[in-house]
Amino acid sequence: VYAERMRRVAASAIMELIKTTAGGSYISFASGLPDPSLFPSEALRECADAVLSSASAPALQYGPAEGYPPLREAVAALLSRRGLETNADQVLITSGSQQALDLAGRALLDPNDGVAIESPSYLAALQIFDSLQARYHAVEVDGEGPLPTHLTVALSHRPKLLYLLPNFQNPTGTTMSLGRRQAAAEQAASAGVAVLEDDAYHDLRYDGEPLAPVAALAENPWAIYTGTFSKTIAPGVRVGYLRADRRLIERLAHLKQITDLQAGSLAQRIVFEYLTRGHLEPGIERFREVYRRRRDLMLGALQEHLRGAATWTRPAGGMFIWVTLPAEDAERVLEGAMRRGVLFVPGSTFHVDRTGGRGRNTLRLNFVSPTEDQIQQGIPLLAEAIRETQG
Ligand SMILES: Cc1ncc(COP(=O)(O)O)c(C=O)c1O
Repeated sequence: VYAERMRRVAASAIMELIKTTAGGSYISFASGLPDPSLFPSEALRECADAVLSSASAPALQYGPAEGYPPLREAVAALLSRRGLETNADQVLITSGSQQALDLAGRALLDPNDGVAIESPSYLAALQIFDSLQARYHAVEVDGEGPLPTHLTVALSHRPKLLYLLPNFQNPTGTTMSLGRRQAAAEQAASAGVAVLEDDAYHDLRYDGEPLAPVAALAENPWAIYTGTFSKTIAPGVRVGYLRADRRLIERLAHLKQITDLQAGSLAQRIVFEYLTRGHLEPGIERFREVYRRRRDLMLGALQEHLRGAATWTRPAGGMFIWVTLPAEDAERVLEGAMRRGVLFVPGSTFHVDRTGGRGRNTLRLNFVSPTEDQIQQGIPLLAEAIRETQG
């Protein structure tokens, strides 16, 4: 009875792990979640109050599929400040940036169309491309992002789409260098390949200066850039955005209309109020301060307990550290870690060929959702589990 595309729609290993361990008292480095104690509930309550007192009818009414016009303006201004000149008519407000990725995929990909993609990459994007029956051209990554030689080969296959995570990639935490961004932007533009740039973590930068988005580095009518307020306000608000050429936005708005008519009017107005009252920047500063400390604590603990037994990335932002083991033991390490009350996600989950065995020597650790105490307790236990597999 199911449609063909449902063959490739399944629960993610992360969701399954979280489900089977729910209720247990684990220290979890597995989730992709922000720390809920940092959600700005008081400021959001005031914004919701203001919206419902002054504009309850439009806030509770249907609105335009493209999004609440003042919020589109505000997002355009925010992106222009990132170095990506944007007009309001180039912005589509979405229900989280996950929907932006899905709309972009659905608008551009027919079954068997090629997608050039970093491997490993963001699992929920892989699930979108899987559901659209895409063919993958995998691009391996090092500490500076996708390897140029692999990217050139992938683009030579004339994929429809190149999906990139230039900042603090989920899952590896790596950031694409400016040189590689420039080259990728130029190569994709000259090959006529659409670029889908997922910048969900842009503002969670703990070191160094922001780098220009890939979309700003070459003229490409098919450059699509996505972002979100999930990591800088709260994911439950479900407000994200997509930036593209005005004509593409019009087409995507039609597709969005089919999906859910529009992003929620109330949530959009609350986010706009939050921005107007100047809460965003101080809120981001709070996330940065806490997350930076946790990253440093986890890096320190890894150095103390795992030196010589593994290597790991040193992310300049985002939520994840990527650990590489000398042997393909991540699944066995997970068994040992779970016996000790610690969870993480084995890295093979994030590869395009998830059952093909790539990345079996890697693990993803979320450093923002555990508390400092949990990091200090959990990393030595994880190290024990790793050393156990190494005899
Ligand atoms: C890389 C990346 N892109 C997009 C998203 C989607 O987030 P949202 O739909 O909440 O904006 C996430 C969420 O974890 C993510 O890690």
